[in-house]
Amino acid sequence: MGKPGTEEAPLRVAIIGSGPSGFYAAGHLLRPKSHPDLVAQVDVYDRLPTPWGLVRGGVAPDHPNIKAVSRVYEKTAAHPEFRFFGNVEYGAEVTHEDLLERYHAVIYAVGAQTDRRIGIPGEDLPGSWAATEFVAWYNGHPDFRHPEFDLSCERAVVIGNGNVAADVARMLALTRHELAGTDVADHALDVLAESKIREIVVLGRRGPAQAAFTNPELLELGAMTDADVFVDSRDVAIDPLSRTWLEGDGASSTARKNVEILSGYAGRKPAGKRRRIVLRFLVSPVEILGSERVEGIRICRNELRAEDGSIRACATETTEELDCGIVFRSIGYRGIPLAGLPFDERAGTIPNQGGRITGEDGEPLPGEYVVGWIKRGPTGIIGTNKRDAQETVDALLADLDADALNRPADADREALEMLLAERKPEHVTYTGWEAIDAAEKTAGEPHGRPRVKLTSFDELLEAAREGEPAARS
Ligand SMILES: Cc1cc2nc3c(=O)[nH]c(=O)nc-3n(C[C@H](O)[C@H](O)[C@H](O)COP(=O)(O)OP(=O)(O)OC[C@H]3O[C@@H](n4cnc5c(N)ncnc54)[C@H](O)[C@@H]3O)c2cc1C
Ligand SMILES: NC(=O)c1ccc[n+]([C@@H]2O[C@H](COP(=O)([O-])OP(=O)(O)OC[C@H]3O[C@@H](n4cnc5c(N)ncnc54)[C@H](OP(=O)(O)O)[C@@H]3O)[C@@H](O)[C@H]2O)c1
Repeated sequence: MGKPGTEEAPLRVAIIGSGPSGFYAAGHLLRPKSHPDLVAQVDVYDRLPTPWGLVRGGVAPDHPNIKAVSRVYEKTAAHPEFRFFGNVEYGAEVTHEDLLERYHAVIYAVGAQTDRRIGIPGEDLPGSWAATEFVAWYNGHPDFRHPEFDLSCERAVVIGNGNVAADVARMLALTRHELAGTDVADHALDVLAESKIREIVVLGRRGPAQAAFTNPELLELGAMTDADVFVDSRDVAIDPLSRTWLEGDGASSTARKNVEILSGYAGRKPAGKRRRIVLRFLVSPVEILGSERVEGIRICRNELRAEDGSIRACATETTEELDCGIVFRSIGYRGIPLAGLPFDERAGTIPNQGGRITGEDGEPLPGEYVVGWIKRGPTGIIGTNKRDAQETVDALLADLDADALNRPADADREALEMLLAERKPEHVTYTGWEAIDAAEKTAGEPHGRPRVKLTSFDELLEAAREGEPAARS
């Protein structure tokens, strides 16, 4: 048998996960610059009935321009050799063996599906939430319809200094009018609009120079309609260690600009807006306080030390207690293991070399690849996944050239359809997704909203069925 990749024997690739990394990988495979004559067929699976991963379920509702990146993925989906199978979960309805029996290569693009733990007392008290839960709830993720966020308190605390923490702080400070024009989940709109929270305190364990915010996101916090930003000038006084670092080659222009923005905030007079966002630095949570639910948080003052080539936060003896009614832990996402595949517990990723999954002996597993957050960890903006996907697809195509891919017993497209008809008759094709998309947009139109999201599996599947009645009757 010759190498796959021809009209008679197309290269068959499964991609598990339809977020940015999965879609960029599909795009590179269907139009490979290095292999212009390659004939590839790409099947993208997702456990949700909807595609786009965190572009739909993570990116904040008040950032519609960023969500517009899905237009690039729509072009990939329009390729005749592309298929989407939503509502199909790897590890439940399709297994490792199923895929290796039917595809020359499998690319895992499942992202990071849970949150990192801080490991402090009180972390599990009611009212202490992972930012992952809050984000999924306001974005209408069907697994997160039911949490009840009690925003009746005066002060919320957000732990972490990354862009997700910035999103959480901003979402807590938007006005009803601002929220009402977005695709925020309906169940979240009223809760957020009627929030009684007046102060949102964001805690950074290191200094302003080490904050992980990017410049536009930090600037947005200073331009809220109904919230003043507040930074204590003592918090932005740069310590000698950070000063040396900022002046050297190691610091990014983003870090330098962040320091400038924060110094500007420290010099601002409050405009007397209804809410305020307080950015604090060099403090770590030690305990989340409360008997039945969150009543406060104990934090300790940190100092910075140079250790192993990086600048670390080290706790001092100085502690302080802050009253608050709700805490959002925004210290990063975390990948989870997938059945049948190796997993690096420490990093929360699938071990790999340039995208080739490696087994216990460190050797690549034939025909098995990773891309995106499950490959490199939960950092990087949407565009980062494009380059990352190129690296993985280049490795896959080099393995194709070297005849080192998986050799499936049954590489027939129909064999896969038969399997799904049996295992998951309620799977959603791309036509089904287009019907969901149209229904959501139509529901949004009269209200001047980009869409009104369907947020339960039942509603989503019903809308998908409307789009493909012939196929499912
Ligand atoms: C809250 C938040 C906001 C963000 N906002 C921005 C922003 O404004 N701008 C920006 O540039 N970047 C933003 N990012 C970063 C960006 O979203 C990520 O870089 C990107 O989504 C990572 O892509 P991915 O494909 O690796 O993972 P994901 O986007 O998470 O996609 C993974 C997909 O895999 C599916 N999946 C998981 N497990 C299975 C399984 N077992 N079987 C089948 N399918 C499965 C999931 O349902 C999901 O659709 C944000 C990130 C977060 C967390
Ligand atoms: N608008 C956008 O472009 C946008 C929006 C959202 C997300 N994203 C991207 O998505 C990625 C993930 O964002 P993220 O915010 O989840 O992660 P992140 O950027 O890695 O930020 C995590 C933050 O948590 C802090 N942290 C980690 N462990 C901690 C602990 N034990 N105690 C206190 N603080 C702790 C980190 O501090 P240290 O630095 O000290 O470790 C850091 O400030 C990022 O690349 C981000 O840029 C982009």
